Amino acid sequence: MDVYEAIKNRRSIRKYLQAPVEWDKIGQILEAGKAAPSCGNLQDWRFIVILDQKKREQIAESCMQQHWMARAPVHIIVVGEPEKSKRFYGIRGERLYTIQDCAAAVQNMLLMAHALGLGSCWIGAFDEDALRNLVSMPNEIRPQAIVTIGYADEQPPEPPEYTLENIMYFREYGGQGNRVKDIPKYSGDYAERIQRTAGKGKDIFSRMMNKLQLKK
Ligand SMILES: Cc1cc2nc3c(=O)[nH]c(=O)nc-3n(C[C@H](O)[C@H](O)[C@H](O)COP(=O)(O)O)c2cc1C
Repeated sequence: MDVYEAIKNRRSIRKYLQAPVEWDKIGQILEAGKAAPSCGNLQDWRFIVILDQKKREQIAESCMQQHWMARAPVHIIVVGEPEKSKRFYGIRGERLYTIQDCAAAVQNMLLMAHALGLGSCWIGAFDEDALRNLVSMPNEIRPQAIVTIGYADEQPPEPPEYTLENIMYFREYGGQGNRVKDIPKYSGDYAERIQRTAGKGKDIFSRMMNKLQLKK
């Protein structure tokens, strides 16, 4: 499966088959998480793997009673170490980089799970203190997300998405004047222009080479 396919076809899965997940697949998902970029390569994340049924039920309860979660055979809690990035990057590290680092790790995990034929879901709605107590997390560690993993028992449709025209600007933020209508057409023209320019460059280059060889 190529990256684009994995990105495009991954869906949040909230119904799981009651089949265990092979340990080597869990390992590959964790490896994918730890391969994410992080600020100054601090890797200010930790991953807590939960397989125990009772614990998964308690976690689901702490996630605003999202009881469906307990049926996912694997939970991975991604926690951040903001104190670590604060030491290097001050308030920006503490309040922003750790969150971004963990988010990058979570997205890698979701994509890897999908590429391995598994379903997953990113869970961000939880009672931080309740979750903290469940897994004996010290105060300086902040839970960022829970990833549920298992074999999917549903095929959700692609959710609605904004078009590129709606979310991108050229030159500066906002303003209708900076919006591009019909991006595929624009990028088609642009690609053609690049090809033509590259072609011209090649002609000029070979003519120059010929001249140089004649001079020799
Ligand atoms: C930060 C964040 C928090 C989320 N929290 C939850 C959650 O608590 N429960 C849930 O069912 N889905 C949660 N999701 C999943 C989104 O609902 C889902 O990604 C979105 O609806 C798009 O669907 P898709 O993942 O199938 O593309 C969360 C996603 C993100 C990025």
